[in-house]
Amino acid sequence: MFKQLPNDDAEKVEVILNQQKILVPLGTTVAAMALANGLRSTRTTAVSGAKRAPFCMMGVCYDCLMVIDGKANQRACATYVSKGMQVETQQGVGEAL
Ligand code: FES
Repeated sequence: MFKQLPNDDAEKVEVILNQQKILVPLGTTVAAMALANGLRSTRTTAVSGAKRAPFCMMGVCYDCLMVIDGKANQRACATYVSKGMQVETQQGVGEAL
């Protein structure tokens, strides 16, 4: 569904997405990285467990919440990847900080 445009000049960093190591160009948002790597949902809802995925891609809808570096409820569309980042699909509300 999503295909990342080639950018051979961008430095790539290793990111762990749901226990899988992938190489991602710097400047990529976590949401774009997740979608480009085939993730169909980034979280499940707290009430029904329904799967949700990034929708607005600009920080408004909160459907892209993920667990990033151990912190739940992070907007994946408003977070850029960084070296060694660990990203997981969020189940429900996530752990309180
Ligand atoms: S996709 Fe809407 S807030 Fe991230």
